Amino acid sequence: MKEKVSGKFQELFGEGAILFASPGRINLIGEHTDYNGGFVFPGAVDKGIVAAIRLNGTDKVRAYAYDLGESSEFGLREEDKPAESWACYIFGVCREVQKRGGKIGGFDAVFAGDVPLGAGMSSSAALESTFAFALNDLFNCGIDKFELARIGQATEHNYCGVNCGIMDQFASVFGKKGCLMRLDCRSMEYAYFPFDPKGYKLVLVDSRVKHELVGSPYNDRRASCERVAKVLGQEFLRGATMEQLDAVKEQISEEDYRRARYVIGEERRVLDVCDALEKGDYETVGKRMYETHWGMSKDYEVSCEELDFLAEVAEACGVTGSRIMGGGFGGCTINLVKDELYDHFIAMAKEKFNAKYGHEPQIYDVVISDGSRRLE
Ligand code: GLA
Repeated sequence: MKEKVSGKFQELFGEGAILFASPGRINLIGEHTDYNGGFVFPGAVDKGIVAAIRLNGTDKVRAYAYDLGESSEFGLREEDKPAESWACYIFGVCREVQKRGGKIGGFDAVFAGDVPLGAGMSSSAALESTFAFALNDLFNCGIDKFELARIGQATEHNYCGVNCGIMDQFASVFGKKGCLMRLDCRSMEYAYFPFDPKGYKLVLVDSRVKHELVGSPYNDRRASCERVAKVLGQEFLRGATMEQLDAVKEQISEEDYRRARYVIGEERRVLDVCDALEKGDYETVGKRMYETHWGMSKDYEVSCEELDFLAEVAEACGVTGSRIMGGGFGGCTINLVKDELYDHFIAMAKEKFNAKYGHEPQIYDVVISDGSRRLE
């Protein structure tokens, strides 16, 4: 990617670009908990976005999206929002940096990515983090890493229509090779957990059912949680118990009840998984992953037929843990599988999925990698 991005930059804009990169992410467990003030357990991956950037001394941005073969030019004022949806991510980052006092000017950029789009691996966070990190570096804005993550999140909220939590941008900016990160999304405390489960692999099985968070379903889930939190008199659902939820059951809709039930259960599962990891108890980790899957499918209703099928195939093959990963509505499952079962599971997932849906899922081995950085 580095070569193709630099090569294209030279062709379009000439010499002198600096390269920046940010990764996509996986999440072991803790889904739809971030905007509820709960815990998440992500890690950055070896797939992401690479951008070549050089300041151009004007007040315009000229950007080229290598994978789409499209370019966009826009100014830095609120009314300059570009027409291309991919360019809105870059524009949003520019605006959010400025809102935080960052004095930025125009620049030229070429970027490319290898995070599969719509797979639930946060390609958009990788794009936002790349530009937030790069602008902070190139214009010496002095913004700290948490604020860089918040810039990406605010870009989603204010320029892309997704009221996401902080997990994806946090993971992309803070990622560390070989480590998962547990983040408390209320206090923003985090810890790195070296993750090298001896005898197991983490693998993603991508249904290639397109996942699209822009639009209402994701935001609707968040709204349900906020309604219930309000009835409970809390800022977040985090910390609520099932007893408290049952006590207000008559005051909320049946659907909101189920949404909240999932979130309360998920908070417990993340903490269980942390304990289990410390003891090397991967069986418990795997059990909780399946519980998350079915909670997301039945209570939170963010799964789909294809992903339920993949989780069932995993279970039938004896895979330790399997669940839908990310926001949902398509994308991939994350699977914790014993080394000796790996080949069999992958073969079965491909064969059975293909027989039922007419195409093979895509397989990605997880390599836990570093976060946002300037490349040499
Ligand atoms: C998307 C959002 C995140 C998070 C996950 C679900 O990836 O961007 O903030 O809510 O969904 O865990």
